Amino acid sequence: MSIINKITCSLLITSTLAFAHGDAAPQKVDTQGLPEIGYDVYTNPFSGNEKAIEVGKTAYNQNCARCHGLEGKSGGIAPDLRLLTDGDDEYFAGMVRAGVVRNDNVYMPPFPDDIIPNSALWAIYSYLETLPEED
Ligand code: HEC
Repeated sequence: MSIINKITCSLLITSTLAFAHGDAAPQKVDTQGLPEIGYDVYTNPFSGNEKAIEVGKTAYNQNCARCHGLEGKSGGIAPDLRLLTDGDDEYFAGMVRAGVVRNDNVYMPPFPDDIIPNSALWAIYSYLETLPEED
């Protein structure tokens, strides 16, 4: 391998690593196709809505799965979100907005609405509702 090729190669590796790391940053959710939802909504307005479930799956995979696990199978790192029940809507919304910070340790980052608009928040909940509780 020539020296130029070696340099190009290591640059590629470095930028791939940087990308992989940057991937963990919150990603704005594309909510096209979903109506806007106000702040006065405390129960999931999208239960069973196919479009919402699709948007929610993408949003979950982009922003939640790295801790809560693919398809909600957390593997013990973070709580298993498949176990949230029907009555947990308001609690769920509150947790996503506030995150979990104790003694300056960020267990879960807060997700503001410029990253996860209300419609995306309920879309994620709609997706979680579709997951079976057992493996
Ligand atoms: C950096 C890791 C991380 C990310 C990313 C993350 N969470 Fe969490 N989440 C946690 C941890 C850890 C807890 C438990 C915190 C504690 O100790 O109380 C938690 C708790 C929760 C809870 C409360 C669960 C319960 O059973 O009480 C909900 C709801 C939740 N997360 C939803 C989400 C959603 C939705 C997303 C994506 C938008 C998300 N989280 C992204 C780590 C994360």
